[in-house]
Amino acid sequence: MTAAFPSLQLVDHPLIQHKLSLMRDKTTPTIQFRQLLKEIALLMGYELTRDLPLTTERIETPLVAMDAPRIHGKKVAIVSILRAGLTMAEGLHELMPSARTGHIGLYRDHDTKMPVEYLVKLPEPEGRLFIIVDPMLATGNSAIHAVDVLNKRGVDDARIRFLALVIAPEGMTKFADAHPGVRVFGAALDQCLNENAYIVPGLGDAGDRLFGTK
Ligand code: URA
Repeated sequence: MTAAFPSLQLVDHPLIQHKLSLMRDKTTPTIQFRQLLKEIALLMGYELTRDLPLTTERIETPLVAMDAPRIHGKKVAIVSILRAGLTMAEGLHELMPSARTGHIGLYRDHDTKMPVEYLVKLPEPEGRLFIIVDPMLATGNSAIHAVDVLNKRGVDDARIRFLALVIAPEGMTKFADAHPGVRVFGAALDQCLNENAYIVPGLGDAGDRLFGTK
């Protein structure tokens, strides 16, 4: 939790910070950039899932019977905001291979900077914890839109977590106003947005750097 944003948890593990610095470096090539994002998502996933409830199941080890801890009932769904969320989702899937997958396709209108939706595919909401992933929480508009989409399908804010890499204070303010009950996990809270709504210092266009486009 940070003082300014009670719903934000920055995950400042040294490995995550080190890997993020490599990602910020403009000379880091696409192949390494992708790999680093996947690794960071996996590491952040550890913190994101820290409070999943446990139950016990009776099993027999080769030596004795025991009540062994297992994740209780709740199923997880990982929802990528396309397209930069895809690579973060890959990292989380390595951690939780049986998690269901959803996609929300949004692009940013150049003039209004507002998200335009072109695809929504989601698993059954019943009883699931939804983790929305998008590396850059910049204006907050896409993040708010994605949560609104889930709310409309009956998933309330308490069952949603948002996993980002780099967060702009402006976007976090807007997001926390709209959805104070959604816990946000990030690796860094940066300085500000520039006039083109890019995060400063940031790491540039995450989608372009992940997929080698311009
Ligand atoms: N999206 C990006 O990919 N980078 C930013 O800095 C802001 C939004």
